[in-house]
Amino acid sequence: MSMKRIGILTAGGDTPALNATIDGAVKRANQLEVEVIGIIKGFSGLLDPRAPHLLLNPLYQTIPELDPYMGGTIIGSSRHYIDPAKKEEFKGVTEKLSRMGIEGLICIGGDGTINGMQPISEYFPCVLAPKTIDNDLGLNYPEEPYEWTRTQNDDGKFKYDKENGRKQIERDEIVNYATPGYATAVFVAVQAIQRVRTTAESHRRIAIIEVMGRDSGYISLGCAYGQPDMILIPEVAVDLDRLEERVRQLYDLQKNCVIVIGEGIRDQHGNLFGDKASSFDPAGNIIMSGAAEHLKNELVTRLGDDFFRSRRRHDSANEAIFTRKVGHTQRGGRPIRFDRFYAASLGGHAVDLLLKQENNSISILKYCDERGFEVSSTDANRLRDRWGIIHARTVHLSKYDQERMHLSIFGRDYLKPIFDHAVGPEDVDYLHNEIFLPGNLSSRYQSINVDVHKRIRYL
Ligand code: F6P
Repeated sequence: MSMKRIGILTAGGDTPALNATIDGAVKRANQLEVEVIGIIKGFSGLLDPRAPHLLLNPLYQTIPELDPYMGGTIIGSSRHYIDPAKKEEFKGVTEKLSRMGIEGLICIGGDGTINGMQPISEYFPCVLAPKTIDNDLGLNYPEEPYEWTRTQNDDGKFKYDKENGRKQIERDEIVNYATPGYATAVFVAVQAIQRVRTTAESHRRIAIIEVMGRDSGYISLGCAYGQPDMILIPEVAVDLDRLEERVRQLYDLQKNCVIVIGEGIRDQHGNLFGDKASSFDPAGNIIMSGAAEHLKNELVTRLGDDFFRSRRRHDSANEAIFTRKVGHTQRGGRPIRFDRFYAASLGGHAVDLLLKQENNSISILKYCDERGFEVSSTDANRLRDRWGIIHARTVHLSKYDQERMHLSIFGRDYLKPIFDHAVGPEDVDYLHNEIFLPGNLSSRYQSINVDVHKRIRYL
């Protein structure tokens, strides 16, 4: 029997293409005459029995507030996940879904969301439409989940480590080649690098630019388009001696240097460069901060003031080396064409999967040399390790050149299909026509939350 009403939620950190994914799903549901209920604020909207929801397609017409060109998510997001061990809470979630008349659920999210979806999928049909700027949802190759080992710490908690896996991979083996949100994040970061570069050049400085990505270095790698001198990724321990040597060479050659780092970079003992007195978000993820500052302090000590004074540039190393964090601009705002197009396709495909009763499936993007990108699917079970955990994908080392501390040749081959046509003419038109709209000076920002609020319903 086909479903007549499905639910959709967005969980985890927002990305620029969430509305595009929702829009793709709603458009497909309209064709199939299925109602789509938006759950407000991710899984927390299911955990709270009184939380409201909204109908995204009354009479199978998409509500006008849903704009695929707009960043963020009109249904809100949160980092709360459902704990299956809390039996009462868990029962309340499935009961709430049934009381709303929802027959299947689309979760739009990344690795946290897919893990959160696992227990629900045992009682309720669910599929995942992927999103993440970190590009860490998926596998470098299909056997990867079996390479995880686990040990128990003294406090009883489990520690998961990955064995050294395969040295080489092919592009068509990558499970979920790229995720909506990633291209736009790189688009923003690359522009930041290009802009910071000219200041570094003019003022003879060394710039350290920190980008997001947690433990995955995909955003840092994509920043190669901004032509930084070096890229440091969390997957490869930072060799400070080698880094210092390269900085000295480059600075003598060009009187400036730009280093891009992922926020999760680690030293050779596996310690985070960033804030070690870490705090955690509700999903248990470490909130990372301070990696660029830490690296700056290392370079200030190693190079010393004399390095710059002897070259008649700057009074101190502290003045000559500066840090910039690209921060949340990577995650927000208007998505570029690659993200919009594939977000919508993956969202639409998620509806088809749900209606075909492919429970616990993920709508994914595949790449093959002959045909380019294709929307496909995989069973979420294939991503789980022996203990049922889905780990965030890290950058496969064949994409990184450790000697040059930069993108490798295979890394270039990996990025090209994503970025060759990632920006469309309409993205350029947007800049031309809308950035300096005179109306922006006179009218205040109209938050979408206000309009959406008028549509919400309570059980
Ligand atoms: O997972 C997406 C991400 O943007 C990471 O790259 C980053 O570490 C984190 O979320 C930041 O989270 P928040 O917005 O909650 O500070």
